[in-house]
Amino acid sequence: MGTMTIDGRKVTFTDEKNVLSVIRNAGIDIPTLCYHSELSTFGACRLCTVEDDRGKTFASCSEEPRDGMVIFTNTGKLRKYRKLIIELLLAAHCRDCLTCEKSGDCNLQTLAKRFGVMEVRFENYKERRPLDFSSPSIVRDPNKCILCGNCVRVCEELQGIGALGFAHRGSDAMVMPAFDREIATTDCVNCGQCRIFCPTGAISIRHNRGEVWEALSDPDTRVVAQVAPAVRVA
Ligand code: FES
Repeated sequence: MGTMTIDGRKVTFTDEKNVLSVIRNAGIDIPTLCYHSELSTFGACRLCTVEDDRGKTFASCSEEPRDGMVIFTNTGKLRKYRKLIIELLLAAHCRDCLTCEKSGDCNLQTLAKRFGVMEVRFENYKERRPLDFSSPSIVRDPNKCILCGNCVRVCEELQGIGALGFAHRGSDAMVMPAFDREIATTDCVNCGQCRIFCPTGAISIRHNRGEVWEALSDPDTRVVAQVAPAVRVA
């Protein structure tokens, strides 16, 4: 238990696991793309970055709250950082928003609007990758992945499956099933949790219910009866 000052306001905290939770519990809106209370903290997107009274910035999701902390959540410096992060994510992202399944429900699109990203000054250097239509339940579009790792963690940590993982490093990093196999050849149980946690259109639902039910009732399809119940995205 302790007290910290957020944007000039004294806020008491008890057992919140990170500064981000204290901020949100105080009713302050702070953008995130890679944080979910049900999953381990990954600290990838840096959108939750805050500034302390010495001008030092840090990711609030990855910092434990300490008594006496003084932080600011919405300074000019932070707004500039956040806008740049969104612009960089969009630069490496396929931008066919008009025809994207997630358009209107995409966190990246919402944040781009919120931070007034009107243009992307950087070139997309990424090679376009093929979509994975092998699953009866989901479609993977690696060109829309922002490497938040949400799908990897929900599959591993909540479902205990581990159908997806990270491959390569640096600017070549990507999320895929091991050895770049098609998702249908993994232990994927078609639960759809990865789609719920994906903030963009990188994982979407296949709109072919007939095929999905046929596949799910096929004894040869890898479906386990006991999967964790669907969780709400926080
Ligand atoms: Fe903190 Fe992404 S939410 S780094």
